[in-house]
Amino acid sequence: MVTKKIALVTGANRGIGEQICADLAALGIHVILTSRDAQKGEAAAQRIRAAQPSADIVVHQLDVISEASVQAIHEFVINTYGRLDILINNGAILIDDNVSIFDLDVPTLRATLEANLYGPLRLCQAFIPLMQANGYGRVVNVSSEMGQLSEIGRGTAAYRISKTALNSLTAIFAVEVGRGNIKINCCTPGWVRTDMGGPSAEKSIPEGADTPVWLALLPDSAPTGAFFADRAIIAW
Ligand SMILES: NC(=O)c1ccc[n+]([C@@H]2O[C@H](COP(=O)([O-])OP(=O)(O)OC[C@H]3O[C@@H](n4cnc5c(N)ncnc54)[C@H](OP(=O)(O)O)[C@@H]3O)[C@@H](O)[C@H]2O)c1
Repeated sequence: MVTKKIALVTGANRGIGEQICADLAALGIHVILTSRDAQKGEAAAQRIRAAQPSADIVVHQLDVISEASVQAIHEFVINTYGRLDILINNGAILIDDNVSIFDLDVPTLRATLEANLYGPLRLCQAFIPLMQANGYGRVVNVSSEMGQLSEIGRGTAAYRISKTALNSLTAIFAVEVGRGNIKINCCTPGWVRTDMGGPSAEKSIPEGADTPVWLALLPDSAPTGAFFADRAIIAW
């Protein structure tokens, strides 16, 4: 039986997701590292174990756009642990970089929403009830400053819309779950040097993982239903 905290991270075979898994493992958390390609997930777990031989990590396939895949991991978590303490919706795609909204085609928007919005929706619907049954939970939706309506800019509209909607999803789940010991928040990691962020980005990958990991470990007195950057609440 696993007695320590259990965390599930999506899109964890590279980038910020892999770093979140490494950081959570270093904090003594049992990590379910998920990846749409199980072999790539296993390779990421091996990199973490090479640096941290005591890291407690299991790898599970998860493609967030697949109902069957979400159902399979839900059954795995229920049957193996019976609970989930931390859910980090990190996996996402950006396929319309700098495309004007006038040129945005619906299939691109639909594909982006499938991964960046419907995926987190499926996982929240699957796992928040389990957290409610257990009386404890931390949900971290990794969003983006590109979805921040108060600072909205031009272009990359599919990605922006998906992240604005993810923020809305976060707030609505938080309201419906209400006060208690389940904290449902979203954050921007900042502009990070990953495959998505590119080599010119200002933050290193560990810096990008900092706020999501911090939100995963919020104390019981912490807020729910908020948008964070650099460990502080920011405007929607
Ligand atoms: N990097 C930045 O500057 C930046 C800025 C703001 C927000 N963010 C957000 O931070 C998070 C992590 O980004 P990153 O920079 O680490 O990006 P990344 O290096 O491109 O990694 C994205 C991850 O998401 C996974 N993914 C994509 N579609 C998926 C699906 N259908 N099911 C499961 N996993 C899927 C990818 O898996 P594959 O390897 O299989 O493609 C990959 O593991 C994302 O939510 C992103 O929007 C990043």
